Amino acid sequence: MTGDILFQPGRVGSATLRNRLVRAGTSESMADPESGELTDSLLDLYAGLASGGIGAIITGHLYVEPRGKYARGQVGIHDDGVLPGLRELVGRVHEHGAVIFGQLAHAGSQSRVPGLTPLAPSPVPNPLTGQTVAGGTDQDIERALEAFAAAAKRAVAAGFDGVHIHAANGYLISEFGSPLTNTRNDNWGGDPTRRGEFARAVVEKVRASVPQGFPVTMKVGMFDAVAGGLGLEETLPRAAKLVAAGLDAIEVSCGLMDAPTDSANTYVAVGPKRAAEDLLLHRMIGSPRPEAYFRPYARALKAELDAKVILVGGMRSTSMMRDVIASGDADFVAMARPLIREPDLPAQIRQGREGLVDCTSCNLCLIHEGHHPLQCWRTPRIRLLQHAIYRLGGGFRRAEVIPTRH
Ligand SMILES: Cc1cc2nc3c(=O)[nH]c(=O)nc-3n(C[C@H](O)[C@H](O)[C@H](O)COP(=O)(O)O)c2cc1C
Ligand code: SF4
Repeated sequence: MTGDILFQPGRVGSATLRNRLVRAGTSESMADPESGELTDSLLDLYAGLASGGIGAIITGHLYVEPRGKYARGQVGIHDDGVLPGLRELVGRVHEHGAVIFGQLAHAGSQSRVPGLTPLAPSPVPNPLTGQTVAGGTDQDIERALEAFAAAAKRAVAAGFDGVHIHAANGYLISEFGSPLTNTRNDNWGGDPTRRGEFARAVVEKVRASVPQGFPVTMKVGMFDAVAGGLGLEETLPRAAKLVAAGLDAIEVSCGLMDAPTDSANTYVAVGPKRAAEDLLLHRMIGSPRPEAYFRPYARALKAELDAKVILVGGMRSTSMMRDVIASGDADFVAMARPLIREPDLPAQIRQGREGLVDCTSCNLCLIHEGHHPLQCWRTPRIRLLQHAIYRLGGGFRRAEVIPTRH
């Protein structure tokens, strides 16, 4: 389609994106389990995304220090040893004209790595893992901040076009931000301003570690999906402070989660016909779940802030993607699951593909995080059988990852 709003270039800081489509951070469970180094299959996955026409890729979350690792097979940016692999990754993506942001992350008490001593603001059970760890000392917190700074420097050295800080979905920065998981009464907690200090300090540290104009963006939990948690009255003023501290763009998501489906809603836009086609027999009755489910938060941010906004969560039809951009509710639309199933989706849309994407948001890919390399488990169909054999054989129970509570 000529003049398609989705294929107008856009800017984030000094980076120019060839279109408005972003691949949202999607952890791959494909790195070396010990060293966090990249593997050939992971490099191929990213080359495939870039050649599939996406404007920008946000990497899966990269752990900034060993105690901030989330799951087995996660890529690290915690050590100079990972630099050669990260450089190759960036090169493979640039070859195909996409830009790539490294996602800097610390899992907090949501870590699913057995035997690790994670970091948390307070000894409160993580809503997703149920894990309680000791509240961090000032020294632990300072070390984590330094780890973010060092990781940002590594991202620059590796040639990334920007860094994207993970401050959503219940990980460490979310935990500091929420009254449910941060019960401190010191510089890092006690009231809304002090609960926002850790996120602000991360942005400040990262900004000071990268060249001027280098894009720094953040995935922000604009509300907690856990009852009694954060809402817009606290997160909107906080987002304004984060932009003042140096963010170029905010990607909108939720904070603390009771279940992974809080950020990755199931069966988005899946009606009975699509359910039958994709063998989702239990969904043949029941209405489709809404698309673009975080859109009201993007709209609220756009109204308040002078920063680019990236909307993720349930973008499933070309009409919705265009409507989000045309309405001004967001500057970019990001997708995770649709691009697992169809890495070349942007190229298809550019060539005239209309309507719904193939992904039916069944979340089998999410359930296998930390267990198997990232892939769509519904196609080819044989993978559904492989999934069933693994599940019925007790694979998830025996696995070397701490399970989520749901
Ligand atoms: C398998 C899987 C892995 C994910 N890993 C990450 C991640 O590393 N970093 C992140 O910010 N979000 C991660 N997410 C969340 C997605 O970025 C996205 O916010 C969510 O899936 C909703 O978008 P979608 O409807 O386009 O999938 C992951 C989601 C899935 C399904
Ligand atoms: S397994 Fe496939 S269809 Fe199911 S959510 Fe993941 S990408 Fe979508």
